[in-house]
Amino acid sequence: MDAIHIRGGNALFGETKIQGSKNAVLPVMAAALLIQDVCIIENCPRISDVYHMQQLLESIGCRVGWAESTLTIDARNISHDTMSGDNVTGMRSSITLLGAMLGRTGEVTMAYPGGCVIGERPIDMHLNALRKMGVAIYEKEGCFTARTEKKMEGTVIRFPISSVGATENVILAGVMAKGVTVLQNAAKEPEIVTLCEFLRDAGAVIEGIGGSVLIIQGGHGLHGIKFRIPADRIVAGTYLFSVIGTGGNIFLEDAPTAQMRSMIQAAEEIGAQIHVTSEGIHVIADEHRRAVPYLKTEIYPGFPTDMQSPLMAVLTTAQGVSVIEEAIFEDRFHIIGQLEKMGACIEQQGKRQAVVIGVDSLLGCEVTARELRGGAGLVIAGCMALGETVVKNRHFIERGYEDICRDYRNLGADIRTG
Ligand code: EPU
Repeated sequence: MDAIHIRGGNALFGETKIQGSKNAVLPVMAAALLIQDVCIIENCPRISDVYHMQQLLESIGCRVGWAESTLTIDARNISHDTMSGDNVTGMRSSITLLGAMLGRTGEVTMAYPGGCVIGERPIDMHLNALRKMGVAIYEKEGCFTARTEKKMEGTVIRFPISSVGATENVILAGVMAKGVTVLQNAAKEPEIVTLCEFLRDAGAVIEGIGGSVLIIQGGHGLHGIKFRIPADRIVAGTYLFSVIGTGGNIFLEDAPTAQMRSMIQAAEEIGAQIHVTSEGIHVIADEHRRAVPYLKTEIYPGFPTDMQSPLMAVLTTAQGVSVIEEAIFEDRFHIIGQLEKMGACIEQQGKRQAVVIGVDSLLGCEVTARELRGGAGLVIAGCMALGETVVKNRHFIERGYEDICRDYRNLGADIRTG
C-alpha cells in the first residue's frame, strides 16, 4: 500500500539527523554532466527524485554508482541526446539537464518537465534566456529540441521574476558559453549557492555568488571533484514545525541554521523556544501555539513556499486566526480540503490567501497527498491529531524525504508505512 499510518497525539522527543538537500543535489548532478571526468558527491539523499535523475544521467551514457550516501558520476562518455519518459515528465528538475546538455553536447531533445502540481510552472524564462545565448529551440507536441550550431555566447540576461530553475539553467549554460554571461535578478536560494560552489570548485569562474547579479566567465576547463551536499533546509523545517504541532523537545542535527532564519522567526512567533548551536537546532515546544497574524511566502531569505503547507498544518490548532499568503505558486493550497476533513477550519480567499481559524484539535481520518510538501503537512497533521490518520499517496512524500517514518519514529511518533 502506498500510505503512511499514524496514531497521533505523541509529543516528539529526541534527535534526528537531517539528510542532504534535494534541491541542491539535483542541479549538482546535472552539472556533473559538464565535466568530462569523475565527480564524487557526498551526503546525497536517497529519495526518488535523485533516483530519477540518476536514471536520466544513465540513459544518456553516464555511469552512476552509490556507496551509502555517496554518488559517483562518471560523465566521460555521453552517448545519447534524447530524454523522455517518466523520469523527465515526473520531475521538475529534469529541466536543468537542458542547460547542462547544451553545455556538454550542444543539442538535446526532451519532454517537458513535470513535478508537483502546485501551479502552472512554465519554462518560458529558461527558453528565452537560452535563445538569447544563441540556442535554437523547436517545440513539438509535449517535446522540444534545443540546439546550438556554434558555441553558446555569453550575454546579459535579466529575469522578469526570480526563478530558481531558470537561474540554474543559465549558470550551467554560461559556464560553457563563449565570453561573459551576466545574469540580473538571479535567484539567491541556498541551492543556487551550492551549484555555483560545486562549479567553482570544478574550475568555473563565477562572481557574485549568493547575490542577485551573477557574472559567469565561460569556457574554463572543468575537472572532477569531491563535493559535499549541505543538509536540507526544508526537511529540517518540516521536523521543526512538527514538534511545534505536537509539543516536545527535539534536536535537529546538521540543520542548516543560517538558511533557516525566516522559519526560526515564524517558529518563535508561534511560541517555540529555539536554540541554535554549531551542530544544529534545539526546539522546545509546549501544547500552546499562537496564531501568526500574517505570513507571506517569499523568495529567499523570506519564508519558503515549500514550508507553507507544513506551517498551515501546525496553525490549524493555534490559538487565534492566522493569515497565509502564497506569493510564489498560484495553486499551492491542495492541503486545505484534507485538513478540513480532519476538523480544521480554513477559509481560502482566492487562489493566494488562506485564513486559518485555530480549533482545539484535529481528528485522525483518511487523507490524500497530492504533492510532496502538502504530503509532509498531512503527516504533521496526523502526528498532531487524535486517533489514526492514513495519508495516501506516500510516493509523493518519498520524492523528498528519505524515510519520513524512520525519522518520526526516532522522535517517538507512532507511525508506519502500509
Ligand atoms: N516561473 C515562470 N517561468 C519560468 C520559470 C518559473 O513563470 O520559466 C514562475 C513559476 O511558475 C513560479 C515562480 O516563477 O511561479 C518561481 O518558480 P521557480 O522557477 O523559482 O521554481 P522551480 O525552479 O520550478 C524550485 C524548487 C521548488 C521550490 C521553488 C521555489 C527544485 C527542483 N524545485 O522550483 O521546490 O518550491 O524553486 O523556491 O529546486 C519542492 O522541493 O517541493 C519544490 C517544489
